[in-house]
Amino acid sequence: MRLAVLVSGTGSILEAMLGRDLPVMLVGADRACRGLSIAHDASIETILVGRDDWVASGTDASGRRGFDRDGYSCDLARRLAGAGADVVAMAGFGTILADSFFAWGSGRYRGRVLNTHPSLLPAFPGWHAVRDALAAGVSETGCTVHMAIPEVDAGPMLAQQAVPVLDGDDEAALHERIKTVEREFYPATIAAFLERCGQERILEGQPR
Ligand code: GRF
Repeated sequence: MRLAVLVSGTGSILEAMLGRDLPVMLVGADRACRGLSIAHDASIETILVGRDDWVASGTDASGRRGFDRDGYSCDLARRLAGAGADVVAMAGFGTILADSFFAWGSGRYRGRVLNTHPSLLPAFPGWHAVRDALAAGVSETGCTVHMAIPEVDAGPMLAQQAVPVLDGDDEAALHERIKTVEREFYPATIAAFLERCGQERILEGQPR
């Protein structure tokens, strides 16, 4: 199974995946970011599919030019498939993928996209999961690995791990504690998922 990783940020989860010898054959990004440099340094092929190239025609209610999410998602799927990716792991990817991503090529990526999220879903979905957990005053949060679907942080969950919130935590400290867990937990969950996909392929008589 050929694995592509999507990044937008510091790429520390990607680094952990590479340290675990996951078969990452491609790294994609929606903006220039450290994740692309990590891939480059590891001699992994990269693609930059910039959001700025996908400006929607017309403006939204507040007069801003919109983002052509459907067009972007479709193009990203086409480029990942063109490079031969079978499974996609999002690792801090900052663009919500529309259904056109999952539907591309007769649904090539349905059930084939994983994500890690820094909360115990269904609690605290969305961009500010760590901040929201702190604001809610919970004593425990964590991370969730789930299948990605067009609805944000709502796909079937594969695994979760709790992380304590400690006195004096700010958003950065708590997020780093969660990421320390994600760097172990996400690669291990991906490895198990790839193994399962490979076995299904064998049962279907396809090459692994
Ligand atoms: C992780 O906490 C992940 O759950 C979230 O983005 C963060 C990525 O961290 N979606 P990094 O860019 O790999 O350091």
